[in-house]
Amino acid sequence: MARYLVTGGAGYVGSTVATLLVEAGHDVTVIDDHSAGSSHLPTGTTFVPGRFQDVADAVLARGDFDGVLHFAAHVEHPGEHRVYNLGNGVGFTNHQVIEAVRATTGRPVPVRVHPRRAGDSATLVAVSDKARRELGWQPTRGLDSIIADAWEFHRHHRTVPAPA
Ligand SMILES: NC(=O)c1ccc[n+]([C@@H]2O[C@H](COP(=O)([O-])OP(=O)(O)OC[C@H]3O[C@@H](n4cnc5c(N)ncnc54)[C@H](O)[C@@H]3O)[C@@H](O)[C@H]2O)c1
Repeated sequence: MARYLVTGGAGYVGSTVATLLVEAGHDVTVIDDHSAGSSHLPTGTTFVPGRFQDVADAVLARGDFDGVLHFAAHVEHPGEHRVYNLGNGVGFTNHQVIEAVRATTGRPVPVRVHPRRAGDSATLVAVSDKARRELGWQPTRGLDSIIADAWEFHRHHRTVPAPA
């Protein structure tokens, strides 16, 4: 068993990771200030409410953590974290993503198409070789299941407007 601190642990990514860590038998502490309107607290964790900028020092001082997983919007001490790029190495176009969201949610997705802005890249694809090499991580989900998971989460933990 290891001890982990998950910031933003009531959010979409953080609560999923915290739940998986608990299920794997680890001791998990969550910091979240509910600023994103999330109300999902993973069961089996120790919850510390508040902004991580305000409470993290005290939590870390008494914690002896094996790892810190940071999902609360931005990194306060970048030098103390390793950042891995995660992706499938192939990528999708904006159009493919929008169509997949429409298909999965059954909701209209309003779109306005504009010309490319100066400096926009023609293609951006996350290459996850470092995470693969150093963590043994590899992607197991496709675009449709990623969107379906996100849609389920937001339907249950956020206010989703009724169809127009
Ligand atoms: N969702 C994705 O697919 C995805 C993909 C790539 C990167 N990310 C990044 O991962 C991070 C988390 O994304 P998410 O989708 O889980 O967002 P989210 O809004 O669902 O979760 C963020 C959580 O952090 C909390 N939070 C924000 N600021 C805080 C602070 N100062 N102190 C304590 N808690 C704070 C919020 O209340 C919320 O519960 C973001 O930085 C996002 O850009 C998300």
